[in-house]
Amino acid sequence: MKPKVYITRKIPNEVFEYVSKYCQVRMWPEEDTPVPRHVLEKEIRDVEGIYCLLTESIDQDLMDKGENLKVISNMAVGYNNIDIDNATKKGIAVTNTPGVLTETTADLTFALLMATARRIVESELYLREGKWQTWSPMLLTGQDIHGATIGIIGLGRIGEALVRRAKGFNMKVIYHNRTPKPIVEKELGAEYRELDELLKESDYVCVMTPYTPETKNLISFEQFSLMKKNAILINTSRGGIVNENALFEALKSKKIWGAGLDVFEEEPLPVDHPLLTFPNVVVTPHIGSASINTRLKMAQLAAENLVGILNGEEVNYIVNKNDLN
Ligand code: GLV
Ligand code: GLV
Repeated sequence: MKPKVYITRKIPNEVFEYVSKYCQVRMWPEEDTPVPRHVLEKEIRDVEGIYCLLTESIDQDLMDKGENLKVISNMAVGYNNIDIDNATKKGIAVTNTPGVLTETTADLTFALLMATARRIVESELYLREGKWQTWSPMLLTGQDIHGATIGIIGLGRIGEALVRRAKGFNMKVIYHNRTPKPIVEKELGAEYRELDELLKESDYVCVMTPYTPETKNLISFEQFSLMKKNAILINTSRGGIVNENALFEALKSKKIWGAGLDVFEEEPLPVDHPLLTFPNVVVTPHIGSASINTRLKMAQLAAENLVGILNGEEVNYIVNKNDLN
């Protein structure tokens, strides 16, 4: 008998077909609405595997209901939506989709950096709203990117990919990481800094670290007070790493120059959110990895992780591998 699995969102057809070859599949049929919690609570009862997105909170309560669960396959590289410790205690493997989205997410990070620095969105609105009267010397002037200092907090795969882009723009690259990475420093020409030093020196501060209890509110009031007046904060990782009240204060009191944000404490970001009152904040709706190719690869990799675990095969991307018995 094929194992039963539940997929929490409509996924691309070919990926659905792939999973169906190996599993009895039930799936939430909507693409743009998350599965309601009560449906998920019911669906999880008899399945051995769950294929989920970062919009689902897979907590202890839910896992308690899924007595047969062997694998939780997250279609994302980040997995802060899953209670990993509890999954480990229960012997449930948690998998993610690193690697395939690295370059695409670095592209978006750099795009946000450029859009914020050069006021692209504000300029577009200015033109569309009929405000453009004449070329004038200081109209819509922004910050230079070339030659500036970029500070990367979290030098994982995506952070490294960002270094390569920054080097192409002739930027000085500094980084902070739990453990310094001398080989990467040598290969890519990035210099290590303590966090405070990085914040004091950077024209661009890019948050590229995973969201964990240790990185929650990593960038808050004190950190903004260290940053340069012309500094631009970029966050394409997770919302909770940057304290949004502190960011609001920093922008309001002009402690920093702007922010480019793809992720938020609460998603979807409410349209009446105070951060949206600033023209120097550029926002996108959590689209870091959203290229057609990359999303297809992530969907397929999540499927292979799910099927692989259930078939007892070797799977590369088990988050809690070392702690499972
Ligand atoms: C997206 O945010 C991901 O973690 O893959
Ligand atoms: C700008 O368009 C310039 O020619 O300097």
